[in-house]
Amino acid sequence: MTILVTGGAGFIGSNFILDWFEQGPEPVLNIDKLTYAGNLQNLATVSARKQYFFFRIGIEETSKIRRLLGAHNVRAIINFAAESHVDRSIAGPEAFFQTNVIGTLKLLEAAREYWTSGEAPKDFRFLQVSTDEVYGSLQPDEPGFRESDAFEPNSPYAASKAGSDHIVRAYGETYGLPVLITHCSNNYGPFQFPEKLIPLVILNALGGKSLPLYGDGQQVRDWLYVSDHCDALNRVLSDGQPGETYNIGGNSERTNLTVVHTICAILDGLRPLASGKSYAEQIAFVRDRPGHDRRYAIDASKLARTLQWSPRTSFEGGIRRTVEWYLANPAWTTSVTSGEYREWVARQYA
Ligand code: NAD
Ligand code: TYD
Repeated sequence: MTILVTGGAGFIGSNFILDWFEQGPEPVLNIDKLTYAGNLQNLATVSARKQYFFFRIGIEETSKIRRLLGAHNVRAIINFAAESHVDRSIAGPEAFFQTNVIGTLKLLEAAREYWTSGEAPKDFRFLQVSTDEVYGSLQPDEPGFRESDAFEPNSPYAASKAGSDHIVRAYGETYGLPVLITHCSNNYGPFQFPEKLIPLVILNALGGKSLPLYGDGQQVRDWLYVSDHCDALNRVLSDGQPGETYNIGGNSERTNLTVVHTICAILDGLRPLASGKSYAEQIAFVRDRPGHDRRYAIDASKLARTLQWSPRTSFEGGIRRTVEWYLANPAWTTSVTSGEYREWVARQYA
């Protein structure tokens, strides 16, 4: 049997594939369009394995994917492929709806044909990797998001993910496709593209640049180390009930200001500035993101109760490991911070 991972050259998808091969030899088909966010170098350590196959295909290419499903006897699709950065969705929403909504629909069509043809194994699964951002924003004293909460997306990114989740659900209800949906909080860890807060701050700090905090920096996110997310996805894939939705969270709510101070303190210890100053002096409060969600928090008790999953990595341990990874991998950083990245940063932080 084989699994098919979409978007496996991105941040979470590549961590998922690396972790997958730590657990066993079951083959993986990775299909990825290789947008600016996809990077095959992330998979350098597994790319020579005979159980690993890469295809540069978009999730919207239904017939090619349909052929792959049958030819490789695929038992599960894990859909990571997406446009994933909120600020880019504000600057240019259309690509988000093309990939996240229409792309997911076309991928589901391939899965539906495979499933209804009778070729798919009986225990076939379609796992949609989604986000807590579909639920909108919480007040400071509200409980964390639950699976039964209504969707109230506030950014084009969140709206596009909510749209794709609705389609996945509809394919489960209408066609009996065995679908699973997960809503995870903010991830961090190795191989995250440095447009996102944590790697951006690490690299800007090391580069002597300012550390931009939107608005007052008091927005709250619930941070989860990426391997813990991958572990939860594995649990849902193997034991989740088709048709069910699972929230995944880190139990690590932090304000953005606290996150940035934590990174600066770690860097002050590992790579002290010659001036004797703290990296925290590089913090700059900048114009807020439009429609900026104030707080996300996840109630992951369903996953804990039904599938015995809880996060293993503390925020303090995970963030230190992440800073150490970026310090140890300057070549990776140089290769991803290419012309396109520099143009994005110049536009976004002008
Ligand atoms: P990412 O932007 O790092 O990677 C996305 C990958 O998808 C890239 O490799 C890209 O080349 C590929 N891709 C884009 N469009 C494609 C298409 N049309 N066809 C095939 N491949 C395509 O994203 P990520 O941070 O790894 O997130 C992965 C998934 O997890 C996304 O669906 C995202 O919504 C979800 N998610 C992310 C987080 C987070 O904190 N990063 C949290 C919860 C959920
Ligand atoms: P981000 O990593 O973009 O994830 P998301 O928007 O999906 O939560 O941002 C995390 C938080 O950090 C979010 O509240 C926006 C904030 N942020 C900044 O303050 N400055 C920045 O330069 C970036 C990229 C994000």
